[in-house]
Amino acid sequence: MEDPYTAQHLLVEAEALRRDVEDAKLGSEAAAEAFRIRFLGQRSGSVTTLFKRIPELPPSARRQAGITLNSLRKRVQERLLAARSSLEARRTSPEQRIDLTLPGRRQREAGSVHPLTHVLRSITGIFERLGFSIEDGPEIEDDWHNFTALNFPPDHPARDMQDTLFLEASGDVMLRTHTSPVQIRSMLTGKPPFRIIAPGRVYRNETITYKSYCLFHQVEGLVVDEDITMADLKHALYMFAGAFFGSDVRLRFRPSYFPFTEPSAELDVWWDLSGGGRWMEILGSGMVHPNVLESVGIDPERYSGYAFGMGVERLAMLQYGIEDIRILYENDIRFLSQF
Ligand code: PHE
Repeated sequence: MEDPYTAQHLLVEAEALRRDVEDAKLGSEAAAEAFRIRFLGQRSGSVTTLFKRIPELPPSARRQAGITLNSLRKRVQERLLAARSSLEARRTSPEQRIDLTLPGRRQREAGSVHPLTHVLRSITGIFERLGFSIEDGPEIEDDWHNFTALNFPPDHPARDMQDTLFLEASGDVMLRTHTSPVQIRSMLTGKPPFRIIAPGRVYRNETITYKSYCLFHQVEGLVVDEDITMADLKHALYMFAGAFFGSDVRLRFRPSYFPFTEPSAELDVWWDLSGGGRWMEILGSGMVHPNVLESVGIDPERYSGYAFGMGVERLAMLQYGIEDIRILYENDIRFLSQF
């Protein structure tokens, strides 16, 4: 025959259960539910089972056993309540949510200046030191400013060289194809002498290749005064090229044609490439055509001037050894973070 179940037995078992209750880990909803069933489950929860044995105790011991088991049950319920409310808080407040499977947080990348911005700043800096001031003009232009006042008559074949992106079927509104319309706007709003540059974005419907894109940047230059000659133009451009590329730069001044300058010339820079090199055109230039001065009401008998327009992307490619213009617009951090 079995020994009778005594208050002593029950207290020892209750004590062991209390330790298990305190040690249990309740880190998830499932763990909390398993914990509840293990201790308080109706059928075989271990605290429930001890309650069921109270009737086996001598009547004098039952009251104390009841008090002990009630306090144990209360402790189980407290732990459940605490676990559920912290699980709930973790679910609803993002700052307390910790997902150990996520990759570590990275430091935010520091931004850097775009290579075209570097080049624009150094070009404008050089010309400011040569006494030029900076002008601005709209990117949406009309035919008169972009072409007609610059001595491109309607249907002049030179318009074909500037594949224009028109914004209206009439052909009168367009994205400017060059910064030269700023020459016109500046001369209309002031009086000679002029000594300005105009940096900005221009647009052409060109076939996209390693050296041309549908938008790019130019810096226009214009000097109008008495007695300005081609020697002044050449001097300014050579000063610029020496300051920008260094005094050992190789330059080539080559005759060209633009309707708004006469005579006209382009400036080429020797482009050292891996496995050779070639000449790269960086700007168009020339003496301001008398028709242009007349179109803005300046007397060409008294004033003369020179103008130039340089391609900023070309300068950036030469400066940094970039062999494909398109990388300047791709916004690839691996490229941009090098500047
Ligand atoms: N506007 C010309 C171009 O975009 C460049 C240029 C500017 C040429 C000023 C002469 C004088 O091709």
